[in-house]
Amino acid sequence: MPAPEIRDLGLGDVPRILELEADLFGPEAWTAGMYREELTSPFRAYRGIDDSGVLVAYGGVLLAEEAQVLTIGVARSHQRRGIGGVLLHDLLSVAGAHAREVFLEVRESDEVARRLYERHGFTVIGRRRNYYPRIGEDALVMRAGLPRDGR
Ligand SMILES: CC(C)(COP(=O)(O)OP(=O)(O)OC[C@H]1O[C@@H](n2cnc3c(N)ncnc32)[C@H](O)[C@@H]1OP(=O)(O)O)[C@@H](O)C(=O)NCCC(=O)NCCS
Repeated sequence: MPAPEIRDLGLGDVPRILELEADLFGPEAWTAGMYREELTSPFRAYRGIDDSGVLVAYGGVLLAEEAQVLTIGVARSHQRRGIGGVLLHDLLSVAGAHAREVFLEVRESDEVARRLYERHGFTVIGRRRNYYPRIGEDALVMRAGLPRDGR
């Protein structure tokens, strides 16, 4: 796959996002209605990467003074190639235009995601108990500072 191009996501991407969600997040997957709201909100940016015209990675960020990485997912077939890192870097750049710091919640047992976030400057600042009730798991809250002029 050549250097990935990152693009804005829209409502036409919802069916493919839902396919990826079901596979990556199982019972914690967001619904079509949630994604339709997310993708049309002026306070959120959703970005994605295609391979041969098929969406293989997607992620979103809340655009606010305290920005939040809302979700990030990479198709299993495309994991461990640096795509998640490229997408996270892009989301932090977008957030950097609005915010000086960014937060996120991550499943405690998701070590791949935690390492990815740590490599991008996030540190654990707290815990939300039973944040994922369907799977009975806590979330760790992580925070990173953003440079004044983005990344
Ligand atoms: C978390 C997630 C987004 C990471 O995406 P990814 O594209 O696999 O991430 P990256 O490839 O950038 O980095 C992941 C690992 O691959 C490694 N990697 C990157 N490029 C690599 C390459 N060319 N060859 C081998 N390994 C590579 C990275 O070093 C990293 O390894 P490590 O964590 O074991 O040190 C993805 O695993 C995913 O969608 N998981 C399910 C959903 C989820 O948990 N989302 C996060 C919570 S919202």
